[in-house]
Amino acid sequence: MKVMVIQGPNLNMLGIREQNIYGPMKLEDIHTQMKAFADQNGMEIEFFQSNLEGEIVDKIQECLGDADGIIINPAAYTHTSIAIRDAIAAVQLPTIEVHISNVYRREEFRQKSLIAPVCAGQITGFGPFSYHLAMVAMLQIFNEMKAIKEAQQQNVQQ
Ligand code: DQA
Repeated sequence: MKVMVIQGPNLNMLGIREQNIYGPMKLEDIHTQMKAFADQNGMEIEFFQSNLEGEIVDKIQECLGDADGIIINPAAYTHTSIAIRDAIAAVQLPTIEVHISNVYRREEFRQKSLIAPVCAGQITGFGPFSYHLAMVAMLQIFNEMKAIKEAQQQNVQQ
């Protein structure tokens, strides 16, 4: 099963931007770790980063028929984007929202997510390890999806 990892604006600057908040790790290093987890657990994985809201909406739409789940850090769009929220609601794929920092310990404007209500869950505040936790959660969701599919197939056969 395939997970699409979508990274929002300024996450291409990880390792450079506000290291006191986001730490020294680069996005490509986070992706290398996620790929290793995917390989170990028989998951397919693809990565996408954009600074543009419309491109993120397009990518979410493209997931239909291409991916089984989405891990997304919408970055600043978390707090503003009805378009990204609607795209996630439209494709109806299990989606996990990730944040490196704990958005609930930061400015008030970061404490509201427009995205979380259409997600399976939200992981926030564990640094780059948030992405690893999201992979573990996605693996669990995939296993549950497989079990439901197998049970349905058995019911059809009976
Ligand atoms: C972030 C938190 C957002 O508020 C911020 O705009 C980001 C990164 C995080 O991962 O902690 O760009 O999504």
